Amino acid sequence: MKFGHFDDARKEYVINTPKTPYPWINYLGNQGFFSLISNTAGGYSFYMDARLRRITRYRYNNVPLDMGGRYFYINDNGTVWNPGWSPVKTELDAYECRHGMGYTIITGKKNDLKAEVTFFVPQNYDGEVQQVVLTNEGSAPKEFSIFSMAEWCLWDAQDDCTNFQRNFSTGRVEILGSTIYHVTEYRDRRNHYAFYTVNDTIDGYDTDRDAFLGSIYNGWDNPETVKAGKASNSFADGWSPIASHYKKVTLAPGETKTLIYILGYAENPQDKKFASSKPEGLLTRETWVLNREKADAMIEKYNTPEKVAAGLEELRTAWEKLLSIFKVDTPDDKVNRMVNIWNQYQCMVTFNLSRSASYFESGIGRGMGFRDSNQDVLGFVHQIPERARERIIDIASTQMPDGGCYHQYQPLTKKGNSDIGGDFSDDPLWMILSVAAYIKETGDWTILDEMVPYDNDESLAKPMLDHLKVSFYHIVDNLGPHGLPLAMRADWNDCINLSCFSDTPGESFQTYTNPKFKAEGGYSKIAESVFVATLFTYTGPAYVGILEHLGKTEEAAKAQAEIDKMKKVVMESAFDGEWFLRAYDANGEKMGSHECEEGKIFIEPQGFAVMSEIGKDVGADIKTLNSIDKYLNCEFGLVLNNPAFTKYYIQYGEISTYPGGYKENAGIFTHNNAWIICAEAYAGRGEKAFEYYSKIAPAFTEETSDIHKTEPYVYGQMIGGKDAKNFGQGKNSWLTGTAAWNMVAISQYILGVKPEFDGLRVDPSIPAAWDGFKATRQFRGDTYEITIKNPDHVNKGVKSLTVDGQAIDGCIVPVAGDGKTHQVEVVLG
Ligand code: GLC
Ligand code: GLC
Repeated sequence: MKFGHFDDARKEYVINTPKTPYPWINYLGNQGFFSLISNTAGGYSFYMDARLRRITRYRYNNVPLDMGGRYFYINDNGTVWNPGWSPVKTELDAYECRHGMGYTIITGKKNDLKAEVTFFVPQNYDGEVQQVVLTNEGSAPKEFSIFSMAEWCLWDAQDDCTNFQRNFSTGRVEILGSTIYHVTEYRDRRNHYAFYTVNDTIDGYDTDRDAFLGSIYNGWDNPETVKAGKASNSFADGWSPIASHYKKVTLAPGETKTLIYILGYAENPQDKKFASSKPEGLLTRETWVLNREKADAMIEKYNTPEKVAAGLEELRTAWEKLLSIFKVDTPDDKVNRMVNIWNQYQCMVTFNLSRSASYFESGIGRGMGFRDSNQDVLGFVHQIPERARERIIDIASTQMPDGGCYHQYQPLTKKGNSDIGGDFSDDPLWMILSVAAYIKETGDWTILDEMVPYDNDESLAKPMLDHLKVSFYHIVDNLGPHGLPLAMRADWNDCINLSCFSDTPGESFQTYTNPKFKAEGGYSKIAESVFVATLFTYTGPAYVGILEHLGKTEEAAKAQAEIDKMKKVVMESAFDGEWFLRAYDANGEKMGSHECEEGKIFIEPQGFAVMSEIGKDVGADIKTLNSIDKYLNCEFGLVLNNPAFTKYYIQYGEISTYPGGYKENAGIFTHNNAWIICAEAYAGRGEKAFEYYSKIAPAFTEETSDIHKTEPYVYGQMIGGKDAKNFGQGKNSWLTGTAAWNMVAISQYILGVKPEFDGLRVDPSIPAAWDGFKATRQFRGDTYEITIKNPDHVNKGVKSLTVDGQAIDGCIVPVAGDGKTHQVEVVLG
């Protein structure tokens, strides 16, 4: 069952009912000011950091769900309704929500009155513009009132929802004309404020939440002022400040009125915090006067429909540009809409937000992940290489001199987060991958010379190349009894914690170490990760390639020898016969073996083992892929492990705490599905690669939205696995490494357009039924118009490749470097 449809021409998803199975959201903002907005206008805004600069308040896990946000209420002769249906939930005569690239349009209609609200954050602008277009579609005149509403968060979102003894007494507002200012703590230690304004006169306002609602026992669905059709002109003094504008409107039949609201944020330099004179009409109880110059300029910028239209156009152009770098035209519309629109859009959102703020991540929980952000680079590096470079350097600056890494860092301070610490065994390897991806995309080798600090200490700065070296050798220098990498606290799978042995409620599996390992330096020196071994053999060649390019042949050979040795070790000690083991636990026992009672096979190490060609000569790759198909494949994707754990295995940690089928315990963890898609494509099995891709790619799951529940236009982290009661149900949408990895899987492995150090590889692995496809790729200043022909209907194999009519050996298009458009023709066979 569907709850809307894709409008590819406008790059929008159009939702046709407010009652989606879960709030379906969008993100507004791309630089400093961000908003989350659901299809009923729920959500919140923040500046830069969702925890430390929260602008509007939001209650997670509320009952009912998704209450609070920015709402418009209309009282039309006693009928009270919202254009987005919620929170009053009066049945509408018509409803539509269009989520587009950085904007959302919600339209509601009731009793011949139509309200179309466009929400967006303009480029280079710290505010959300909300344009409300009211039209009388009836034949009689209409007189009604419209109320806006935004509830202020007292800046620090964590403190705001816990520290009530203080916060109920600090709230501060000011009102000047049609603008309501939020100035809590401004007079003392803050130099930022927020405002909510409308480009017209108003007939009243409310700034005190309880006064607006009329009773502390009312909810957002039942504000008495709105019901009464008249604001109470309340002035907040502590408690919960809000901003609500009240306006009376009269419309003749066919007449339209446009109101533009702006929810903005501004910072003043310390010495310019206050104005010298008090403006006339200012409502305040303070003796100091806010310097509102910045707000004035922001209000001026979007105070007419023409200016709003220009702002929207600018946003649209920016997105067209970002999405023009890689475009495809395949026989499958769903592939096209994922690749050309939604997957790339989601990659940009993960770049901006990492894993901080979604409808499943509260925005106060965690900073940026070392591994997460490095992997995100793979998905967006072609769109904004300069920002990828900056991000990589920020991340690398938190690395330790020995190659170890802080697992997370805070975006506002860019410092490593010591609460969580380090010793996540996979972390360093992802940086080799992101740096290589950056160089392959841009050809900018200078990043390797950039002086990058260790542990944010400038005096410890070394060239970036040194960071790659310590990353590589951090693995080599930390091997266990079999010669496999030590698993440490976790190894991509945050829930395989082999040094924990936790038996006390509330202990964090990621940070708790059993005292028996404390003496050993914080983790077991027995437990080994086969996943990290295969990630090493997959990633290591990029490091070798870099060294070779730099002419460091000796170092390259030394590194290559380590990779070869690791492959041998994996084959000898970690091949289980039909697939690769997952790990050795701290007791030296096999994890992920046919000998185990539960969790006999795991997905994570398999894809990288296949792509590293470990045991290919004895058919280990195909055996492994067939085992995945046999044990992990199900209707909605590939489960993480099988059989699911039904007991608590103290030696494994968090993984066996989840009921079977959820999260890391046999859930369909879509992130690692991509690695198998890549591996199937790599092995030339285009049919299987595409089957797995289409099981999880959102556009393909749209038809089962009633089961899937989360947005059909973006990936979620997890889908309930075959052991779950809610088999097929998605969770944790938007902020997941799946976005980047599936972008890689479809574009570089299935469609096979893959940047390499020395050019653009074109080597697809597609369903045999396809006649071919076309792609446009901007690459290092040139544009390549690629045509793939598949006359023999094969899955893989480049029979011939020409660039501007010239035949080329192999499948790497050399860099032309002339800024022109080149025709690439590839015939498969
Ligand atoms: C989450 C985390 C990621 C981790 C994965 C598996 O997606 O963000 O860092 O690798 O879970 O545990
Ligand atoms: C929890 C989650 C896992 C996530 C991790 C991040 O363990 O289950 O998915 O990656 O927290 O810290």
